[in-house]
Amino acid sequence: MNPTIRTAAIGTERLELLPLLVDHAGEMAATLADPALHTFIGGAPDTPQDLRARYERMVAGAPDPAVSWCNWVIRLREETSLAGTVQATIGPSGDGLTAEIAWVVGTPWQGRGIATEAALGLVGWLERQPVDTLVAHVHPDHRASAAVAAACGLAPTGQWHDGEIRWQRNLR
Ligand SMILES: CC(C)(COP(=O)(O)OP(=O)(O)OC[C@H]1O[C@@H](n2cnc3c(N)ncnc32)[C@H](O)[C@@H]1OP(=O)(O)O)[C@@H](O)C(=O)NCCC(=O)NCCS
Repeated sequence: MNPTIRTAAIGTERLELLPLLVDHAGEMAATLADPALHTFIGGAPDTPQDLRARYERMVAGAPDPAVSWCNWVIRLREETSLAGTVQATIGPSGDGLTAEIAWVVGTPWQGRGIATEAALGLVGWLERQPVDTLVAHVHPDHRASAAVAAACGLAPTGQWHDGEIRWQRNLR
């Protein structure tokens, strides 16, 4: 059995990545309120109540003890506001552990390199965990997300998953 990987705070130059708490839901519902955030990932913004229920499930952790759900909110050091989230779902695949990573930045904060800086902070942290492979699924038309994945050293594979391309980086 793989050990559960515990989320810890991660600092970057402009950002603090804070382990997600249920109490972040109220503010995050406003940060993530723009339906445009769902253009490439499907779904629709959650109400504060629904987001709180979602965060309760996320904080409770994966039902499979071999899988770790690691979630962070992104806080800008120079603002009190929360700008988005990054996440890593870490579990066994093949011989080792794979982390599937994803990022969301609220529309008012986009275009400032926040997703790239947050994802690089996340990847730096994952490099210090017993993780062998990084994976992200990116819609083929989503240039901003592809740029974030490329900045993190991931490269597109030929594999498709639910209309998205699997990007991958081997850490070991
Ligand atoms: C993908 C997302 C997180 C990017 O957030 P961001 O903070 O604006 O990203 P950055 O500012 O770090 O920019 C990343 C790259 O995308 C580029 N970019 C930003 N907005 C863009 C746009 N609208 N069109 C094309 N490229 C764009 C930037 O120029 C940058 O590329 P570069 O490093 O080559 O200059 C944000 O658009 C988002 O949350 N989208 C909705 C959720 C989503 O689809 N998440 C992806 C799931 S894997």
